Amino acid sequence: MKKNSDSVKWFCNNARIAQLVEHFLDVDGVPDSSSGARTMKPVKILGIETSCDETAVSFIEVNEESETVKILGNTVHSQIDIHAQYGGVFPILAKREHQINLIPVLVKTLTEAGDFARTETKVKINETEIDQILKNESELLPHFKKFISNTKKPDVDYIAVTVGPGLEPALWVGINFARALSHVWNIPIVPCNHMEGHVLTALIEKEKAGDYKLLDKKISYPALSLLISGGHTQIVLVEKIGNYKIVGETRDDAVGECFDKIARTLGLPYPGGPIISKLAREAREKGITSPEPLPRPMIKSNDMDFSFSGLKTSVLYLTQRLKEKNVPLDNTMVSGIAREAEDAITDVIVAKMKKAVEKFAVETIVIGGGVIANTNIREHLEKLATECSIKILLPQFDHSTDNGLMIALAGYFNKSKAVGFDIHLKAVGTLPIGPRI
Ligand code: KG4
Ligand code: ZN
Repeated sequence: MKKNSDSVKWFCNNARIAQLVEHFLDVDGVPDSSSGARTMKPVKILGIETSCDETAVSFIEVNEESETVKILGNTVHSQIDIHAQYGGVFPILAKREHQINLIPVLVKTLTEAGDFARTETKVKINETEIDQILKNESELLPHFKKFISNTKKPDVDYIAVTVGPGLEPALWVGINFARALSHVWNIPIVPCNHMEGHVLTALIEKEKAGDYKLLDKKISYPALSLLISGGHTQIVLVEKIGNYKIVGETRDDAVGECFDKIARTLGLPYPGGPIISKLAREAREKGITSPEPLPRPMIKSNDMDFSFSGLKTSVLYLTQRLKEKNVPLDNTMVSGIAREAEDAITDVIVAKMKKAVEKFAVETIVIGGGVIANTNIREHLEKLATECSIKILLPQFDHSTDNGLMIALAGYFNKSKAVGFDIHLKAVGTLPIGPRI
């Protein structure tokens, strides 16, 4: 059989796991791309995400013939409660929490997938190698050794892991965990970009429980992607999957960061997005408005860039003026300001997307990032798509904020970049999705 080029690339980098290559190429019959006659084996990917304050592992099966994805297991453990007291994510605490949570999250995911089993006899492990791989993850190390020596290797073809962008101490935990699993289980690792994961999460459409249709071949390219999260606000031209160009981005705060900072000014807990969204909805229902309008920064600028730090400052000055006038910042006042802040953010986002759609004459927009859990922004972007007669792809609500599924999908689309555990992988906090044009 002709060797699968993906596996060969990986094999060349990692002779020590030649045994698995054999398993891939001959036993399980990774298809000969020239034959076409064989039924393709579904590709099973474990996605690990630790870039910020969510410890997440997802296990998916991609059927390339039917272009479907089955979510076999999906677990997200949020650290929000721990970080809330600091009003934001504390990187060193996040690192510690990821070390504690990764194994339980993995076990839960594998159990959900029906692929978690204890071994009757202990698995032989190379302790020196594991000590070396996890030398900076001292809290994870003992749990890892215990877990790996007692657990049956699951049926996984690739381990996908976020290498950036994100908080580097947090990213390293996921990377080293993936390397340790890869070493013991002989499974190649696919390094993934977190923001690409957000793009891809909108490219699956639910058919029935756990089954999704892959839409990557159903849309016309170039498409435009809007990525709005706690760390990013970008408009990205998707020339094809894997080829991205940034055409607009924030010059200061990200939109999620803006929600979080405004919430803090209003005395609301972290993360600010969900609570502002809830209060704004209530204000609309009750007809409550803000005592003053807020600015729509850069809404008229002739580009696709954003600036949100001024909006946050405007909310701060507004609250200071209210205080000087002895106007209490009560629930009604906070709801009215939350509504106006959400409207200001929505207006800017929609205006910039409209500009981008017109400039690049795309037929599809793909939205991703935690902020798209916001109903108001969703509805206005849907309205824009209808007005412009274009298709809009949105992630499922519960796939909007960080999760392992997005990384498993990124792993699938990047599987040709898979490497062995002994190949140097690096956490890159500022890893771009593509060049700025
Ligand atoms: O993508 P994400 O989970 O993490 C990053 O990659 O940054 O995004 C988190 C951000 C936070 O800033 C949070 O406040 C915001 O998403 N967010 C929301 C909503 N839910 C989460 N923002 C507005 N409305 C929401 N409903
Ligand atoms: Zn994210």
